[in-house]
Amino acid sequence: MRCPSRSGLRRERLSVTGAGPVGPYRLVRVGRGDLDPGEPGQFFMLTPPGHVLPRPMSLCLAPPGELAFLIDPVGKGTRALAALGEGDEVDVLGPLGRGYRLDVGRPLLVGGGIGIAPLPYLAARLGDAPIVLGFRSERHAKAAALLPGAQIVVDPVLVTEALDPSRDLLACGPEPMLRAVARIAPEAQVAWEAPMACGFGACYGCVVELGGHLRRLCLDGPVLAGHEVLAASDVSERAAAA
Ligand SMILES: Cc1cc2nc3c(=O)[nH]c(=O)nc-3n(C[C@H](O)[C@H](O)[C@H](O)COP(=O)(O)OP(=O)(O)OC[C@H]3O[C@@H](n4cnc5c(N)ncnc54)[C@H](O)[C@@H]3O)c2cc1C
Ligand code: FES
Repeated sequence: MRCPSRSGLRRERLSVTGAGPVGPYRLVRVGRGDLDPGEPGQFFMLTPPGHVLPRPMSLCLAPPGELAFLIDPVGKGTRALAALGEGDEVDVLGPLGRGYRLDVGRPLLVGGGIGIAPLPYLAARLGDAPIVLGFRSERHAKAAALLPGAQIVVDPVLVTEALDPSRDLLACGPEPMLRAVARIAPEAQVAWEAPMACGFGACYGCVVELGGHLRRLCLDGPVLAGHEVLAASDVSERAAAA
């Protein structure tokens, strides 16, 4: 049973309680206010200071009274979020979307790069599930400190070479990694990303074609079944070939 998409949804202006580097990324903690942390794999829309449009961020950790987000500063919005410091304020809306199903017998968490962001909260909720993480460099692999005990591989070794496909895979990472996981395990749960402007179904900016149907990823995702992602690949490959 997937978690409900609108459970506990609220928007609040929250104070930053702390921020610091985790490898090349930045972990930003905010006071939780009355926001519900939601389920692992759900996301929040954070409005960077000086910007109109919010940016989607997975919940990374839910310490008591706080929400924490792991931010990869890849553009203007994420750089502004990564520059937040203690005492700054930020608008936060959430929790949004569908997260991971937690009713799995033999979980294995699989993360790649900034895709490790939702895994600390997922690991905390699942207990002592094994974890395998892939990074493009030793510098990026420093972020594995958020997941003590995880098996780590660094390019050119791929995370898919290190995983046990007989387990229940819960994955987040770059698109090629998720496609590879889905090919190995079509029933895997994979967190699929698309650019999002609203996060709650109003703008249709996140529409993807899955199995011949147009779906809003902010409502029907970001967590999908592997076979749904393979259907999306098939459509885009046909479009590219046309
Ligand atoms: C559900 C969800 C959860 C996410 N969780 C996190 C998280 O926990 N931590 C984190 O650092 N990032 C996360 N992201 C990605 C993050 O939202 C984008 O990197 C951010 O919106 C980019 O904004 P920007 O203004 O910094 O960059 P822009 O200037 O808008 O773009 C910079 C570059 O990133 C690319 N980009 C923008 N949005 C996306 C996207 N959604 N997916 C892939 N590439 C994108 C652009 O094409 C461009 O190349 C998540 C995205 C989604 C959809
Ligand atoms: S982000 Fe607006 S409809 Fe999905």
